[in-house]
Amino acid sequence: MAGDLDVAPSDLTRVAARNGGVFSYAQVMARIHGYPGQFDVMPEFGPLFAGPTVAWRDPETGKVIETPRALLAVATYLDSIQRG
Ligand code: HEM
Repeated sequence: MAGDLDVAPSDLTRVAARNGGVFSYAQVMARIHGYPGQFDVMPEFGPLFAGPTVAWRDPETGKVIETPRALLAVATYLDSIQRG
């Protein structure tokens, strides 16, 4: 169905490749979560991630952020399917 959308969704196996080889968990989770009322073509999935959170340390900044466990699980999965 991707071809029927006005803007084609990104190839999620090449997120890191498009970002200089770095898989940025913070960027990816922000993109998936979305910001209320501030999305254009990619749906906002934040409301689906209500539930337990974990204290996740962003390796890029060292900051600890309370992060929905399910959102972190999706990002970890995406990290596992990256290809060059
Ligand atoms: C499990 C469901 C989904 C996940 C985990 C997901 C995740 C992502 C991520 C991580 C990006 C950014 C990629 C990058 O920066 O390289 C992205 C982009 C995008 N996604 Fe999704 N997505 C999902 C479902 C959808 C659906 C259902 C649509 C459309 C109906 C969609 C449309 C788009 C579009 C158009 C982009 C590129 C433009 C933009 O970044 O806003 N996605 N998606």
